[in-house]
Amino acid sequence: KVKACLFDLDGVIVDTAKYHYIAWKELANNMGFDFTLEDNERLKGVSRMTSLDILLSIGNIEKSEEEKLALATLKNEKYLSYILKMGPEEILPGTRDFLELLKKEGIKIALGSASKNAMTILERLELTPYFEAIIDGTKVSKAKPDPEVFLKGAEALGVAPMDCVVFEDAEAGVDAALAGGMKCVGIGKEDVLGKAHLVVEGLHKMDMQKLS
Ligand code: G6P
Ligand code: MG
Repeated sequence: KVKACLFDLDGVIVDTAKYHYIAWKELANNMGFDFTLEDNERLKGVSRMTSLDILLSIGNIEKSEEEKLALATLKNEKYLSYILKMGPEEILPGTRDFLELLKKEGIKIALGSASKNAMTILERLELTPYFEAIIDGTKVSKAKPDPEVFLKGAEALGVAPMDCVVFEDAEAGVDAALAGGMKCVGIGKEDVLGKAHLVVEGLHKMDMQKLS
């Protein structure tokens, strides 16, 4: 029986990828190279510093650690300027209804995200009260596909991994859930997320019956 649901944030609850994209693209353009939407796919579920490394490799640019920190800070300032304008209207379809349903059924809810901006985003979306535990990029040392983020979430909820379901839009996130011994629902396309127990287009298409 499912006792807890653990949600990734970016791409599952809200489409922040478009804001990450604008901010990274601006950074790339300022350094003299282009950054495409296809390139942006490679950054999904990946931490901020690793994302920057990928971006720099696309531009064939080398930077010192100090310069990298400055660039990552600059990118995050741009990103935050968009995030801070978000509101509940940007919550992806079906999310709030699904969270309400879980609450009614007594299923515990946690967040498992690589983002250091997760708290800010949940606040902007007015979703914070649904989450009994929030494990984000400030609380983990190992990035997905390592299961740390989800195992910490399950532990905080006091639920065994085998009784948890993870909702993820990134392949690395699906791998993390499976490595943690959890069930996983992929949010997106079957060809990318095929390893998940179930793949749905979005939370508006989710039906808990399909999991049992
Ligand atoms: C999520 C997103 C990634 C992002 C990462 C870190 O996993 O899918 O695209 O790079 O969070 O986000 P942050 O808000 O800390 O820069
Ligand atoms: Mg994601």
